Amino acid sequence: MSVAIRQIHAVFVGEVSGVDITRPLAQDEVAAIEAGMDRYAVLVFHDQKLTDEQQMTFSRNFGALEDARGGNIGRPEDRRLEVGMNDVSNLGKDGRPMDRESRQRLFNLGNMLWHSDSSFRAIPAKYSLLSARVVNPTGGNTEFADMRAAYDTLDAATKALIEDLVCEHSLMYSRGSLGMHDYSEEERAMFRPVRQRLVRTHPVTGRKSLYLSSHAGAIIGMPTPEARVLLRDLNEHATQPRFVYVHTWRRWDLVMWDNRQMMHRVRRYDEKQPRDMRRTTVAGDAATTTQIEAA
Ligand SMILES: [Fe+2]
Repeated sequence: MSVAIRQIHAVFVGEVSGVDITRPLAQDEVAAIEAGMDRYAVLVFHDQKLTDEQQMTFSRNFGALEDARGGNIGRPEDRRLEVGMNDVSNLGKDGRPMDRESRQRLFNLGNMLWHSDSSFRAIPAKYSLLSARVVNPTGGNTEFADMRAAYDTLDAATKALIEDLVCEHSLMYSRGSLGMHDYSEEERAMFRPVRQRLVRTHPVTGRKSLYLSSHAGAIIGMPTPEARVLLRDLNEHATQPRFVYVHTWRRWDLVMWDNRQMMHRVRRYDEKQPRDMRRTTVAGDAATTTQIEAA
């Protein structure tokens, strides 16, 4: 068997067959998957009964795993999963759905806003890999929007306007837009805004894309309301249905995506029922712009 990829959306997304990712991969299989990522930006694998260890091993084929510290409000002692696994379930350490008022749950609702994983880090993530262990019976689809197609279809004046713009990204902007404004001093320091270019160029294909995320809340050198209106316009353009793929999860699906050229969000689901989704994140290797250290 060899890796085969079939495009399943008009502009992006490949469905992969002919590979068992629970086993160690041959170099040509890794190369085929990476080439598929460069081209389709989202790859869907079905029927991959992964353990956490196997998921981490598969992910490391594409680079080092990202250090998850600084990306959430949870305390280490409350973790349900081992280090290296990002818990994007609705479950507490006891394996049950979190309480409605749980601060962790409310913080995690930010995943329902369009975003690019780790855009709040100075060196943002390369790939995310999400494995469906328990699928929620109602809702919980994940949607992906192609930021290359979004960029390509902007008018020339907008492309010229945004070419060199730099945004500030922070978890406090995305959560702030949901009305969460309460953070400890430690969290404020951890979530200090970082700078990201608004237009990115893919290191392999050379394609440009919009680098949008709900974490973006300001543009350097632009009054805040003007910046936010521009960002809203761009987000509205970028997430029109023709650029969006909706993934309906089956148990043991693994979906991987390139955060450098995609946004995604999860849709609402029945939070009284479990939704056990486990993510690994492959670290990026470069900042998109220079950071100015706070004085
Ligand atoms: Fe995400």
